[in-house]
Amino acid sequence: MISKDVHLAAKWLKENQIVAIPTETVYGLAANIYSDEAIKKIFETKGRPQNNPLIVHIASKEDVYNIASKIPEKAKILIDKFWPGPLTVVLPKKETISNTITSNKDTVAIRMPNHPVTLELLKLLDFPLAAPSANPFGSISPTEAIHVENYFKDKIPMTLDGGNCTKGIESTIIGFEQDNPILYRLGSLSLEAIENQIGTIKVNNFEEKTPSAPGMMLKHYAPKTPIIISQNITKSIKNYNNKKIGLLLFNSKYDCTTIVHQEILSKNSDLNQAASNLYAAMHRLDKLELDIIIAEQFPNNDLGRAINDRLFRATK
Ligand code: TXA
Ligand code: MG
Repeated sequence: MISKDVHLAAKWLKENQIVAIPTETVYGLAANIYSDEAIKKIFETKGRPQNNPLIVHIASKEDVYNIASKIPEKAKILIDKFWPGPLTVVLPKKETISNTITSNKDTVAIRMPNHPVTLELLKLLDFPLAAPSANPFGSISPTEAIHVENYFKDKIPMTLDGGNCTKGIESTIIGFEQDNPILYRLGSLSLEAIENQIGTIKVNNFEEKTPSAPGMMLKHYAPKTPIIISQNITKSIKNYNNKKIGLLLFNSKYDCTTIVHQEILSKNSDLNQAASNLYAAMHRLDKLELDIIIAEQFPNNDLGRAINDRLFRATK
């Protein structure tokens, strides 16, 4: 059921049910962080491996002190500047934070989301919400309430409708090793914006080798339709002669009559707008029973970097 009723969402969450919630990045599948019963439902519903920890969503910046046991100076600078917003920080956890959330790690991922509906919901609750993106493990993240319902309508009591996600790509994740910042996941907050605050940081957003490592799985965010990234769309179209082709493009259409459907992410070449349209366009293309989706490679700066990262994982 899709509903705008924040009080109803709060009621379900207090009863240890899981509810889909809107954020500025993507919709999340939320549960009370202090209920292991509810947290387990998230893993079951998503089909998520137990070794892939969840993000804790908090109502205010100060709440970080209830979740993390230590906050490096650079984390404080980022929190101050970017919360509420699409930045997740990974910090040493307090003992009160369940190992079910952190997959037995001694760190926990935390963010204060910037969405009025979910901030209102969090204020009605006396507990934070653990929430992964509201999609079955590995598939495209939802940026509209209807995407969530298409995935989970028989499995969850409600999707709290907060409209379309304005950012459209997951939060950027930053962790610390010996107080040095490391970027674990490219996301809606650009690397440039972060480096402007704390200087150059190491980027380590590829699959870790040990199974207990954070789940930046190589294959992720994938439509069912095969997808390739192309630097030369005209040439790629020729390679798939006689196939049903869909195009996922940055700013302009291709003049080619054999294409079934073309998605333009931003007519005026705005990377933020392109990011916010990316997943909805992938959902639409995936419904058309195409043989192949050809995606244009994006400029590798600002949010283009995160878009290329998601496209790349979709091709795996
Ligand atoms: O924008 C977002 O971050 C969305 C919305 C709902 O907030 N959430 C989201 O969650 O994308 P999810 O579960 O799809 O991705 C969480 C990522 C995973 O890659 C996980 O491995 C990483 O966060 N993560 C969680 N806890 C971690 C930890 N302690 N150390 C390193 N990575 C962690
Ligand atoms: Mg996810």
